[in-house]
Amino acid sequence: MCGIVGYLGKRDAYSTILKGLKRLEYRGYDSAGIALLDQDLRVFKKKGKVADLEQHLNGEKLTGHVGIGHTRWATHGEPNDINAHPHFSPSQKLAIIHNGIIENYDAIRTDLVNKGHKFESETDSEVLIHFIEDIQNHNTSDLEEAVRLALTKVVGAYAIVIISKEDPDMLIAARKGSPLVIGLGKDEFFLASDATPIVEYTNEVVYLNDSEIAVIKGNDLKIKNTEDVHTTPYIQTLDLELETIEKGGYEHFMLKEIYEQPKSISDCMRGRLNAEEGYLVLGGIREYANKLENADRIIIIACGTSWHAGLVAEYFFEEFCRIPVEVEYASEFRYRNPVIKEGDVVIAISQSGETADTLAAIELAKSKGAIIFGVCNVVGSSIARSSHEGAYIHAGPEIGVASTKSFTAQLIVLSMIALGVAHQRGTITEQTYRQMLVEMETIPEKVGKALKLDTQVKYIADLFKDARNFLYLGRGYNFPVALEGALKLKEISYIHAEGYPAAEMKHGPIALIDEEMPVVFIATNDSSYQKVVSNIREVKARKGKVIAVVTEGDSIIPKMAEFVIEVPATHEALMPLVSVIPLQLLSYHIAVMRGCNIDQPRNLAKSVTVE
Ligand code: F6R
Repeated sequence: MCGIVGYLGKRDAYSTILKGLKRLEYRGYDSAGIALLDQDLRVFKKKGKVADLEQHLNGEKLTGHVGIGHTRWATHGEPNDINAHPHFSPSQKLAIIHNGIIENYDAIRTDLVNKGHKFESETDSEVLIHFIEDIQNHNTSDLEEAVRLALTKVVGAYAIVIISKEDPDMLIAARKGSPLVIGLGKDEFFLASDATPIVEYTNEVVYLNDSEIAVIKGNDLKIKNTEDVHTTPYIQTLDLELETIEKGGYEHFMLKEIYEQPKSISDCMRGRLNAEEGYLVLGGIREYANKLENADRIIIIACGTSWHAGLVAEYFFEEFCRIPVEVEYASEFRYRNPVIKEGDVVIAISQSGETADTLAAIELAKSKGAIIFGVCNVVGSSIARSSHEGAYIHAGPEIGVASTKSFTAQLIVLSMIALGVAHQRGTITEQTYRQMLVEMETIPEKVGKALKLDTQVKYIADLFKDARNFLYLGRGYNFPVALEGALKLKEISYIHAEGYPAAEMKHGPIALIDEEMPVVFIATNDSSYQKVVSNIREVKARKGKVIAVVTEGDSIIPKMAEFVIEVPATHEALMPLVSVIPLQLLSYHIAVMRGCNIDQPRNLAKSVTVE
């Protein structure tokens, strides 16, 4: 949801910022802009991708060693050149980039209009920079103080960076709700929504906390909060390799990330699970482990693909730990006055760790005394930091907007948590516990085998690429996989797809089935296999075209389905890790064949930091 970059130092600001924006483009890509300060403060912005801005600026003399840049996912006002960031203050002495939403911008705007302010754009961000300049003109001439005073009046979420024509060696940044990282180089500073634009220059960073303001002046970084209390910057070392954020020879990040799964799953288990020794330890869950083990119920909150991982976890926890689990869409949970008691246990799942709905749901649960366990990918993200304890999934940066390797790594972490809890509670036998650990260690290899189905899946993709609708059906552990397969297809290929529990089909969706309707069954050999076979018969009787993901060696379904994709066998609770692979590949190939933008599907953004 918008990527922001700032630079102050000795390098060429334009090229440094442009490169940073390209790394952050996954956060939003409907317009881009840059402000550069040299003799003058100049703003350049363009509807479209960062490459469109670059092309637009071809031939411009873009000098300067300080600047800010933005890649946008529109919230207020349509994507066009005017609504693109940065935004000028009325005097054009200040410019701002902003990620987030100023909720009370309308009231502030009305006040300012009454004072004679004129706005060019429809954005809340332009209102904020007008407001800051207005305070500077009337209350204090000091920009730093004007920013602080403005932020005390602002309701909403923001990560902002402000550049001032009158202070050419200064950048002011602040955050609340939206992420902001400051990279500390030798006599230079980098600011960005995440560390990816920073890692090639320095691995020393400071993550700004909520309500903090950073003032970078010359070689000095000062941090205070909106209450004017100064703090010492906490410098952390980045654990991020440059190769992990580049395509490495793959045509798209999504394909690279699908293929990375054997490794990301191993990375996720490394040092935490050793089947031979019966060892299973998640270092991030210690002090509150007993809360999980003794929980009367567990509430899982998440959105999108992470919510699907939560659904698989529900089955897992209930089967092995015998603890009731409720899986909630964070966006619904936060607004429906949920019943949460002191000591309730909440597991929040989020790849980005920045999803606004999930973050707000966590705050709500915390305010009622719940204990929060975060399952995040991005280290140091807001959700990771607002959780009491948790476990990173260690999938490495996921850049393709469609989540793939995070889903499987989330499943691994959630399975490890559940098995550990079950073991402590004694709701699993020692033998089953050991067998599950052994089986988990085989998953990277099985996922590797499933990836070898790529050519076959591509062939099927070619036959169905022009379909207008798809149904995905599964039962038990494979039901969330059906939802995930459908989500992957719709978000990157723009084909309408529905995921359903296979048995629910007869309560409505069966009316959709005719010879035009491809139906993807996830029908691996598990406890509901026979039931799913009956569901396939029902579809065949209505002339639907069946593509079935089955367990290797299945002898029944190949006689019924048009296409059969055989994946390696595993325990049914772990099957989603394997059965999802052909579905990721299917959506990828269909989208490529339809000429869609794989890594940046329309209307989407990787990190959804608005409601
Ligand atoms: C789907 C997808 C989204 C995210 C959702 C939650 O491929 O990427 O549905 O899963 O926006 O995001 P996180 O996990 O970052 O909270």
